[in-house]
Amino acid sequence: KNAQYYISNKAQSLPLNKEAVSFMVDGYVKNEVSDPQMAAWLTACYIHGLDDEETILLTEAMVQSGDQLTWPDHLRHDGRYRLVDKHSSGGVGDKTTLIIAPLVAAFGYPVVKLSGRSLGHTGGTIDKLESIPGLRTDLSEEEIEAQVGRIGLYIGSATDQLAPADKKMYALRDHIGLIEEPGLICSSIVSKKIASGADAFVFDIKYGQGAFMDSKDKARILAKKIEKACEYFHKPCKIILSDMNEPLGDAIGNGLEIQEVIRVLSGKVSQGPLIDLSIDLAANMLALIDPEKPDINHWKKQCAMALKNGSALQKFNEMVQAQGGDLDEALDEETEFSYDFYSGESGRITAIDAKVFGIAAHDLGAGRLDHDGIHPAAGITLDKHVGDTVFTGERIALLHYNLERSQYLYPTIDALKKAVTIDTQVEVNPFN
Ligand code: URA
Repeated sequence: KNAQYYISNKAQSLPLNKEAVSFMVDGYVKNEVSDPQMAAWLTACYIHGLDDEETILLTEAMVQSGDQLTWPDHLRHDGRYRLVDKHSSGGVGDKTTLIIAPLVAAFGYPVVKLSGRSLGHTGGTIDKLESIPGLRTDLSEEEIEAQVGRIGLYIGSATDQLAPADKKMYALRDHIGLIEEPGLICSSIVSKKIASGADAFVFDIKYGQGAFMDSKDKARILAKKIEKACEYFHKPCKIILSDMNEPLGDAIGNGLEIQEVIRVLSGKVSQGPLIDLSIDLAANMLALIDPEKPDINHWKKQCAMALKNGSALQKFNEMVQAQGGDLDEALDEETEFSYDFYSGESGRITAIDAKVFGIAAHDLGAGRLDHDGIHPAAGITLDKHVGDTVFTGERIALLHYNLERSQYLYPTIDALKKAVTIDTQVEVNPFN
């Protein structure tokens, strides 16, 4: 039996068994299964889908492809609390990790958050954090333990040894554009979380135009799979389904999102979907951490207060300093050029397509291209959101870019024009 045999079986929709999954996953990590072979197998998995049993087999093989971290009990207050981690299925403008990790840590519960880079049109926490000059995201396990023991918070990247099969398969799925299969997403997400050694998880599963699951029904299918996989590994979890039709918050792009995170942590943003989701996720983490305080509403109120009183911001600043970052420099960073994206019509905005905006920000420099890395200050800031009124000539968004990506400006503007839907039946008085 060889890779061709297992590829052909899945291509004919025969069920995967443990032997097939181990052969493909272990072989790929050891370079015995080639990129084209894995791409063909993943394509067959994508087309025929993975049932729950196949999903768990794949998840387990991916966990076992590398190290499984264990954290000392003093990070759990000697076993009284759970170490809780959070993961999102990926969105546009989703900077919630950078808000909720310091928010939870502000209550004195240690947080170790291992995150990833951008995938497809979605952003990645590590790329956002690395837009802060000097900030290290590659601390060793010993360094992480020491930092969390000292300040109670670390956000960094998963090491190469943590679910290495996922690292390789994730990059390949990104490259071949085959991401949106619930079993593949579930095994990717859950394997990383199990290997990273937390006791319980909160998952933010996004649905809508900017998410990998384009409908709420599909997001529910992914949520069920994740629940079953966590049950298999005996890990409590809580799943939040969240809307990703329009970008989350005002900023899309790494440094721009850090600036928005600081505004939120400084209590300068008091309402909107970004705040609501951040508070919901943080409150659910806190309710899982402390078995004696499972009341989500209590935690929601506490979280709103910790954003207002500056304690979450202080935690974030301590973390940036501990990891060597220069936040002042990050907040000052700007691109060489900017472009005002104005509305051509008057009316009420009924849709802003998050995927198109995600791709636009990516092309303007927030994402990598084959020949060019990330531009930390590039991306899009939105002045308007769904439900707002706008008049002809009023700015909807500001595009930030450097010379190297300037050839993307006009195609981007064309795409954005089609991505904003305005109900022109609604009368707007520009002097109101
Ligand atoms: N996020 C992940 O970690 N993996 C996926 O496959 C999709 C989103």
